Amino acid sequence: MFKVQDLQFKYPKNKENTIKGISFEIKEGEIFGLLGPSGVGKSTTQKVLIKLLDQYSGEVTYKEQNLKSYGKDFYQEVGVGFEMPVHFSKLTAEENLTFFKKLYKSNADTDELLMRVGLYEDRNKQVSEFSKGMKGRLNFVRALLNNPKMLFLDEPTNGLDPKNARIIKDMIKEFKGNGGTVLLTTHLMNDVDELCDRVAFMVDGKISEIDTPKNLKLKHGQKQVEIEYLENTGNNETKKAFFDLEELGMNEQFLELIRTKEIVTIHSKETNLDDIFIKVTGVEKNE
Ligand SMILES: Nc1ncnc2c1ncn2[C@@H]1O[C@H](COP(=O)(O)OP(=O)(O)OP(=O)(O)O)[C@@H](O)[C@H]1O
Ligand SMILES: [Mg+2]
Repeated sequence: MFKVQDLQFKYPKNKENTIKGISFEIKEGEIFGLLGPSGVGKSTTQKVLIKLLDQYSGEVTYKEQNLKSYGKDFYQEVGVGFEMPVHFSKLTAEENLTFFKKLYKSNADTDELLMRVGLYEDRNKQVSEFSKGMKGRLNFVRALLNNPKMLFLDEPTNGLDPKNARIIKDMIKEFKGNGGTVLLTTHLMNDVDELCDRVAFMVDGKISEIDTPKNLKLKHGQKQVEIEYLENTGNNETKKAFFDLEELGMNEQFLELIRTKEIVTIHSKETNLDDIFIKVTGVEKNE
């Protein structure tokens, strides 16, 4: 669906490139996850792909045609759920949707969508009276209102309670089930595990890994032992240390720790995407 080759982008005000040469493909019918630490350039990459930023170098093709060759018609078949939803706050949810529907040739049944995301009862409320999660759900409905083939979702479950997050995730899966393609950005690795066919990790403006969640787990999947121990500082403070399970009995640091410290808990851990995120990006997530 998309082919990105050596994409580089610099915001005019900045000295350095934000995107420093990335290449990836988004295949038709897949959910592709763009992951990485805050500020790495995920939303910027999405904005290039939705033609909001055009001063880039490298080549981006959509359906094998240069993205720059598309006009406004491009927006007829893509749906966008922005990171920071912008609605007309003085209008009601219904009025917002009616306004945006007029921009498109094809219109989804927004009553049905509002019902699905639990906003139907609130459809005649001014959006200024909506909570963060309600605005987020309305944003998701807006992304779908033109029956898109390609969906860009920037942290779609951010700020949603578990029940609403489940509804949105089920709808994303349904969208894919009906042949849709998705570019998804999220900091929630459980969502990635559940939704994404393939993921790319961005680090320092570049892509460090692209693979399926399963292969990433196999590749980085050393089993670990988590040890919680008491630091002898007199205030009962516990610390954690992690050791690879493999050849644990030969690991001098591990042996030293269990010989000299008071152990509180020992757990064996499977590698999950959270661990892989930290390993691959070298940064603790801040969300
Ligand atoms: N309009 C702008 N002008 C100048 N710099 C910008 C602009 N928008 C973003 N940036 C910078 O570009 C970098 C990447 O921002 P971007 O929003 O793409 O990050 P992100 O990966 O989506 O982060 P997050 O996970 O926090 O959403 C950051 O350093 C940010 O400060
Ligand atoms: Mg972002």
